[in-house]
Amino acid sequence: MSQNNLNIKIKPFGILDLLEFKNLVPKRRKKILEAPATAAKKEPAANALAASLHPQNQFLVVSEVREETRAAKTYRLVPDNESGTSELAVFRPGQYLSFSFNIGGSSVTRPYSLSSSPGEAIKGYYEITVKENEGNFVSKHIFDTWKNGSKVLASGPLGFFYHEKLRDSKNIIGLAGGCGITPFRSMAKSIAEGSMDADLTLFYGSNAIEEIIFHNEFRELEAASKGRIKVIHVISGENSGAYENGFITQGLIKKYSDPYNGSVFISGPQIMYEYLQKEINTLGLRKKFVRWETFGEVKCIDKADGYPLEKIGEVHKLIVHMGGTTKSIKASAKESVLTAIERANMAPPSTCRSGICGFCRSLLVKGDVFIPEDEDGRRMADKQFGYIHPCSSFPLSDLEIIVPRAK
Ligand code: FES
Repeated sequence: MSQNNLNIKIKPFGILDLLEFKNLVPKRRKKILEAPATAAKKEPAANALAASLHPQNQFLVVSEVREETRAAKTYRLVPDNESGTSELAVFRPGQYLSFSFNIGGSSVTRPYSLSSSPGEAIKGYYEITVKENEGNFVSKHIFDTWKNGSKVLASGPLGFFYHEKLRDSKNIIGLAGGCGITPFRSMAKSIAEGSMDADLTLFYGSNAIEEIIFHNEFRELEAASKGRIKVIHVISGENSGAYENGFITQGLIKKYSDPYNGSVFISGPQIMYEYLQKEINTLGLRKKFVRWETFGEVKCIDKADGYPLEKIGEVHKLIVHMGGTTKSIKASAKESVLTAIERANMAPPSTCRSGICGFCRSLLVKGDVFIPEDEDGRRMADKQFGYIHPCSSFPLSDLEIIVPRAK
């Protein structure tokens, strides 16, 4: 499928389809009238299926910890029967789980992409891979505290960073840096297992050869894939004869793949996104063929386009109404409103922490916030009626906010 030539087959409507459509409403009315007035005893099968596919919470236990590199570990997680989870929700390669923690008296959540395949979830385990020094203090907390037998709380599978046959090209061009490799491991495993019908050309940027996560594993997946998986390592911090040196450039992408006949998936740290955005712009790819994995909260808000720099050192008063409780707390201009509320141990709802999912949607009663354009996933109506996503909103003045309670 080329970017300019979508091959869509449209089946014309027949007279029978029109008749069926015309009778739809009368048929439904008849069924409703015939139904008993008492509530159904049995849960409808569709509801049971939806609950198993999209559980609110999953109670998990760490069953294995593997060192991938000096700074990265993979954690295998199995259902915690004792706490009420007997099987794992299946997911699409590229999705993440949002984990809940209580660290130093603060309730926080963090999303981690699943690095295992959906087939492995059916067998009874998930895997996530964490880099100690990448991202945030929560990764360090996992590194320091998760051991065999540790109990953890996760959401159901979430996120939109997956290959969708109707939308994406069959040729996936993956651009990864650091722990951004994890969703691609899930995709590569699924391709090798035969459960995902796509080809993957993966560019993986690392600082040094010894920092490459899943180095041997990707070699094996590549060899077993019959040409469907190709991995190009790009090393930036040392000269390596065996691999490409420097950064992932548009020239390198064109050397090993055809970006005009593929869907580009990008996953890595925030700093890599800023750099790759320029390379993607130079290639002139259409927006719908470029998919960015969310990377969590903006770390340096003063670097965001349009941020009023004179505000950066300010501290504001934040009045939070949540589930019948009101608290007045301090909020630094440098931190998101969500982080400020979590520091006050109020456990607000959140999953993606990137302004996209809407889980943290709250009503801003008073005050001004700065929202980076790329992280503003609000609906038009929400913008108009004063709703914000606290995970992607930064205080510019004293604020008053109504936050829904986490379920
Ligand atoms: S947590 Fe997803 S929008 Fe805030």
